[in-house]
Amino acid sequence: MPIITCIEDLRAMAQRRVPRMFYDYVDGGSWTESTYQANQADFSAIKLRQRVARNIEQRSLGARRMGIDMAMPLAIAPTGLAGMIHADGEILAARAATAAGIRYTLSTVSICSLEEIAQAIAAPFWFQLYVMRDRGFVASLIDRAKAAGCDALVLTLDLQLSGQRHKDLKNGLSIPPRLTPSSLLNILGKPRWIKGMLSTRRHHFGNIMGHVKGVDDMRQLADWTYQQFDPRLSWDDIQWIKERWGGRLILKGILDVEDARLAADSGADALIVSNHGGRQLDGAPSSISMLPAIVEAVGERIEVWLDSGIRSGQDVIKSLALGAQGVMLGRAHLYGLGAMGEAGVAKALEIIAREMDLTLALCGHTDVQHLDHHILLPGSYPLP
Ligand code: FNR
Repeated sequence: MPIITCIEDLRAMAQRRVPRMFYDYVDGGSWTESTYQANQADFSAIKLRQRVARNIEQRSLGARRMGIDMAMPLAIAPTGLAGMIHADGEILAARAATAAGIRYTLSTVSICSLEEIAQAIAAPFWFQLYVMRDRGFVASLIDRAKAAGCDALVLTLDLQLSGQRHKDLKNGLSIPPRLTPSSLLNILGKPRWIKGMLSTRRHHFGNIMGHVKGVDDMRQLADWTYQQFDPRLSWDDIQWIKERWGGRLILKGILDVEDARLAADSGADALIVSNHGGRQLDGAPSSISMLPAIVEAVGERIEVWLDSGIRSGQDVIKSLALGAQGVMLGRAHLYGLGAMGEAGVAKALEIIAREMDLTLALCGHTDVQHLDHHILLPGSYPLP
């Protein structure tokens, strides 16, 4: 067993253990992947100020966000198909997140259902909503999230149409998968993954199958899902969703200052600066480069979170320094999941927490709640 010390180790292990079709689904970005790459490159360019002799013995990573006490200002980002990266993936990741004292966000297009997560973790989690053409189904999802004890609804706004990832098309990743001889051969070389998949009955979209009239098999599920993402989504929809839900509302996928103002006007509790991990508009700026301008425009009115490109505790600290109130982890947790299931997600969170703590300390600080741009080297970070 190799010694795992960083998220990159988990990524490499996941690459060995997860069939290429699903690994590439996690690891890819849209079209030229320029936005996907910029997300990480722009974090690297930001430099931290090393400070010394500042008594850093008592340190704290805890934070209260949106009225919720969190062990760290982090949450797990919603990721579709996590239950294909590892058998029962969403249940395992939700357990690891809950044990680490942070919220798990379940995707609309998860393999495990809302009810299964509620039963497995018996603690609050967040639910991510995609707006479907079938508004009756959207309403029923909102009601099910309430009944499952979710304490925030994360409404994703940046996927009215799906960005194209070349690898997914070439690998035949579709519903149901179109297995090529080469992808079949590749799957046969992943015995651990096969064993897991044979041990569970959860292989399709748990929130959808059996909950939509006329969607009872894979073919019907495929037809329904492809037609359902709603390109007509507008700010008016957000109002009725907000009213129907009645709880904490987080708007995900904001990358533009004007949209951030609309998000604040909508009365939502938080927004997430995100380009969907570089999976939607290739050519869009990195999330971190847009953060300062969005915080300046609306930070007084709404909690601003960020995702896209976070691979280390240093990235988290840089985001907080630039005004993010919290950060979501997408691929960083999926690499852990693919590598070692629940233990892998726990490991990913442990690595990030340790890196945050050490980075905070070596910058001469002791509390993540009191960070600002003064811990960054002037000239190295984006300005509003
Ligand atoms: C996602 N993301 C996503 N977002 C969402 O709102 N609903 C979803 O179902 C999914 N599905 C999904 C699958 C996979 C494999 C990935 C990698 C991402 C986007 C996700 O929530 C988050 O915005 C990004 O993952 C953040 O970027 P990093 O952390 O992966 O770089």
